[in-house]
Amino acid sequence: MTENTVTAPKKIIFSGMQPTGYPTLGNYLGAIKNWGALQEEYDCLYCIVDMHAITVRQDPAQLRKNAKNLLALFIACGLDPEENILYMQSQYHGHAELSWILNCYTYMGELGRMTQFKEKSAKNEANINTGLFTYPVLMAADILLFGTALVPVGDDQRQHLELSRDVAMRFNNIYGDVFTVPEAYIPKSGARIMSLTEPTRKMSKSDEENSYVSLMDAPDAVIRKFKRAVTDSDMEIRYDQAEKPGISNLLEIYANACGISIDAAVAEFEGKGYGHLKTTVGEAVVGNIIEPVQGRFAEISKDAAYLDEIMKKNAQRAAQIGERVLKKVKKKVGFVV
Ligand code: TRP
Repeated sequence: MTENTVTAPKKIIFSGMQPTGYPTLGNYLGAIKNWGALQEEYDCLYCIVDMHAITVRQDPAQLRKNAKNLLALFIACGLDPEENILYMQSQYHGHAELSWILNCYTYMGELGRMTQFKEKSAKNEANINTGLFTYPVLMAADILLFGTALVPVGDDQRQHLELSRDVAMRFNNIYGDVFTVPEAYIPKSGARIMSLTEPTRKMSKSDEENSYVSLMDAPDAVIRKFKRAVTDSDMEIRYDQAEKPGISNLLEIYANACGISIDAAVAEFEGKGYGHLKTTVGEAVVGNIIEPVQGRFAEISKDAAYLDEIMKKNAQRAAQIGERVLKKVKKKVGFVV
């Protein structure tokens, strides 16, 4: 007799990444690398948010290329496009539709308080467009469209997630339980990788070139960046984030790149000099991460038809989930459906 087990539906995880440049080593070790392990327990959508990207002027050919490359890179980093839904935001119209509706349930005041809006408009004075202003509403739409329970986000996106929750609750208060109110996903593991030149700040691709390693950097550039990494003026290799942020960051990167504990990493470098540490960490990153990822990326990128197929199929899978929520929302607000 076969056992008749009823399995509860899996919770949904949603995350988005802009196709502007490539993910950094920090994005990889802190997020992408660990996403692969979530597929067993959750239904995961990883969306390439090209619609968010055009809030800043983009070169069209470059944007398209970046978006496709990011998809290939996701796969190269170990995300299985059958087990996860990897797709382009602009290829499913639901994002734009829900975003419009949610605009009508979000206040100017709320959006005006967003730190990222203030920062980005200070940087882009010549192009403070309304898309930049309503950026968080589109992000709320991304999340709420799929009944998302959990969102892996960095600190810089917390305020946006908080807004998504507020809008969801506001809508639910008026119309009943339409949206799942999302929460931040706090990973069980996942490193917090800091800048190589200012190790008290998080590694970010919006900082200067030498401060971060991109997954697509040439191996010799990676080694060079590690050789230039900022350390401190004593000579001891020990893990101490407060007193020795640069050394601690290198140890953290090494431990993660080699899959060993920080203690084991510290033990390996006992009695060694900073120069040796920097070179060894650089080589481990290149050998264990950069080269394998870039090798797989090159393979995947060769097959344009395969990538097109993945995009098409996954946008359809996303739509299948999204349409249920979108229909409900349209009905609730009074559209003819
Ligand atoms: N705004 C996010 C960022 O710049 C990207 C993003 C868009 C996102 N939609 C999302 C992240 C939904 C999480 C969930 O990093």
